[in-house]
Amino acid sequence: AYRTLSVEEMEARVREIRAQLGTKLFIPGHHYQKDEVIQFADSTGDSLQLAQVAASNKEAEHIVFCGVHFMAETADMLTTSEQKVYLPDMRAGCSMADMANIYETEQAWDILQQLFGDTIIPLTYVNSTAAIKAFTGKHGGACVTSSNAKKMVEWAFTQKERLLFLPDQHLGRNTAFDLGVSLERMAVWNPHTNELEANCPVEDVKVILWKGHCSVHEGFTVKHIENLRATRPTMRIIVHPECSREVVAASDDNGSTKYIIDTINAAPAGSEWAIGTEMNLVKRIIAEHPDKTIISLNENMCPCLTMNRIDLPHLLWTLERIVNGEEGNIITVDEETAVLARLSLQRMLDRA
Ligand code: 13P
Ligand code: SF4
Repeated sequence: AYRTLSVEEMEARVREIRAQLGTKLFIPGHHYQKDEVIQFADSTGDSLQLAQVAASNKEAEHIVFCGVHFMAETADMLTTSEQKVYLPDMRAGCSMADMANIYETEQAWDILQQLFGDTIIPLTYVNSTAAIKAFTGKHGGACVTSSNAKKMVEWAFTQKERLLFLPDQHLGRNTAFDLGVSLERMAVWNPHTNELEANCPVEDVKVILWKGHCSVHEGFTVKHIENLRATRPTMRIIVHPECSREVVAASDDNGSTKYIIDTINAAPAGSEWAIGTEMNLVKRIIAEHPDKTIISLNENMCPCLTMNRIDLPHLLWTLERIVNGEEGNIITVDEETAVLARLSLQRMLDRA
């Protein structure tokens, strides 16, 4: 139906509905969202900020989450039962979150228990399903985001001798490495073969990394960095820690989307930057800093296709349904799962 409306008409209608609903409506938007959507966000942030914002908003009846499915699930679990969370397009998943399903995780846990007994604690990146967060909560573990991963890994080591980090092997490896764990003492759990891929005797393993990754961030390679160092040696390189260990090691700096934004904001005019993260955000940073030279670390990069599914027509469609009192695209986590998942989220929020 929205194909007949111009962009200007859609934008005007979104503004009209926002004015009509006032504080009953709240639109959080992740930094990777398109400009056409982010312009309407009441709050923008990295995954940690958006979780905190959801937990603190008590007045909005309708939370239209412009991000991906796991973020909307998190928002649903951190808000009251009267507040409804909507995802404008149900196809906006996260391929990394889908790399650890609960069946595989339970199977892995059984084997890891046989190998390590009660010496292991799970930590899950928030980029995971509610079921994985519940599994983590049930076994005494916590969630982490790219902003607080170091703090949470340090905490995990105060609880148990070793940890299972899922589903992103790269964030887990980068964080543990920064905390002084040697690469030899990090093993990889392969959910396809149900095997632990270790480079040291099993009893020496400190960190077990689930074999998951972000396909967007795996698009940045050491070759890109080498080319840039050869052609533009004055350029500083900052990447997201979902990039591989080799890419992070070859870069000058790394951190969450908020950290990347703050770093560029604080950089002097005339400075030169190559950024290794999702394209919508890199383009926005470039537009906001005409006084700096900023490029993507990979100029042929694709945006995160699932983040990109949230567009202006889907946002408007969701808002129209809300004003018409129609149900649609509501994200609800069942209470049995949510009770346990909240444990892992709360352990993180208490320390964030
Ligand atoms: P942050 O915004 O928390 O850095 O996360 C990046 C990301 O990939 C979200 O899916
Ligand atoms: Fe998932 Fe990667 Fe997209 Fe983030 S950028 S939502 S981790 S696929």
